[in-house]
Amino acid sequence: MKEQRSNFSGKMGFILAAAGSAVGLGNLWRFPYLAAQHGGGIFIFVYLILVVTFGFSMLIMELAIGRKTKQSSITAYTKLNKKFGFLGVLAAIVPIIILPYYCVIGGWVIKYMIVFMSGQGKAAAADTYFGAFTGGTIEPLVFFVVFLLATMAIVLGGVQKGVERVSKILMPVLLILTVGISVYVATIDGAWEGIKYYLWPDFSNFSMSTVCAAMGQLFFSMSIAMGIMVSYGSYVKDDIDLNGCVNHIEIFDTAVAFLSGFMIVPAVFVFQPDKLNTGGPGLMFATLPLVFEKMPFGQVIGAVFFVLVLLAALTSSISIMEAIVSMVMDKFKMKRWMAVVGVTAFSVVLGIPSAWGFGLWGDVKILGMDFLTFFDFVANSILMPIVALATCILVGWVLKTKTIEEEITKNGEKFARKGIFHVMIRYIAPVFLIMILVFYTLAQFGLVKY
Ligand code: PFF
Repeated sequence: MKEQRSNFSGKMGFILAAAGSAVGLGNLWRFPYLAAQHGGGIFIFVYLILVVTFGFSMLIMELAIGRKTKQSSITAYTKLNKKFGFLGVLAAIVPIIILPYYCVIGGWVIKYMIVFMSGQGKAAAADTYFGAFTGGTIEPLVFFVVFLLATMAIVLGGVQKGVERVSKILMPVLLILTVGISVYVATIDGAWEGIKYYLWPDFSNFSMSTVCAAMGQLFFSMSIAMGIMVSYGSYVKDDIDLNGCVNHIEIFDTAVAFLSGFMIVPAVFVFQPDKLNTGGPGLMFATLPLVFEKMPFGQVIGAVFFVLVLLAALTSSISIMEAIVSMVMDKFKMKRWMAVVGVTAFSVVLGIPSAWGFGLWGDVKILGMDFLTFFDFVANSILMPIVALATCILVGWVLKTKTIEEEITKNGEKFARKGIFHVMIRYIAPVFLIMILVFYTLAQFGLVKY
């Protein structure tokens, strides 16, 4: 008997679900600190080029693989070619690594939301506040577990649809708020230098690490190279214009990231220019309270802002958990609730090092990185490039890009970037991905500077 797969309700339903998964902490928290660290405008320049060429090609390819095979990622690759079955497993490891540390950052968001809601936002503007919070033992752990349990409750309670409906209404509010805060920041004395740094591509800041960081960010932000979009694609109806959908997702995801950077990077310039390179994962949390402290109604705006960030983070974390849970259910023939509880328990254990990596276990470094940065590195800089490389070889050389192009245009849809897609998947992306992997390997041995 043929398995019945439920479908997204139309084009808009699919775009919103995919955008809900894509837009999250990657855009709001990760993009700004990478842009600040990797040369501002030059990072944006490289990122934008990658989005419209490589990101677009990967996203449409993964969705088409899903729709063509009608399988989730764990089995879809095997269906295309038996030798590439390993890709499903490799891709599955990515969300398993991401979920725990994603929830640690989600916990930070809850903490800041509570701080602002309880009227203590001004305290959070102190230079030492973020370090003291993440350096603690109880709080980072408790907030991490609360965020994880909230994700679990939503997935277990089957109320994802409800959360997505709320987020559909509130995400545009977040976007408007981000624009509003950015406009305010732009009016502060000294912001202009920061805006210039953020927008103007200064090629003297360009290095291989700019490309590597932009590529890793692209994977994370668009939720590609982790199988999840293959699974999403398997639920897309045959008559839906994939190309059109991908354009929407790509634009929305990039716009949110760009605006978030526009709000944060110039503010770093004004308030704490020394943090530009060193801010790292804490940048957003260290900078925004300073903005809210100065801004009229800043405390209220800060509270609303963190509530909305939390919602964006939750719609992404539920999609990560959902992806793992459905794989576990399929693989081990487990009941849904058991899989959810199992995944949550596993994530608590794997998340503890990330939660304590800035305090209790702050002295432990792996390859010179704290735990959270290390997990982030393994997923975005090692596993995702390998998954992407293998997918490009599968589609570009084993199946030939034509197979996927036909899937995309089977109802006569336009595929304007077909040429780019072909050259990207078959030639440029594999070369780039190999270069990135070689670069990271050399960097680990101190042979090149990262
Ligand atoms: N793309 C999400 C973000 O930018 O926050 C993160 C994410 C979602 C990663 C879904 C992995 C995933 F499966």
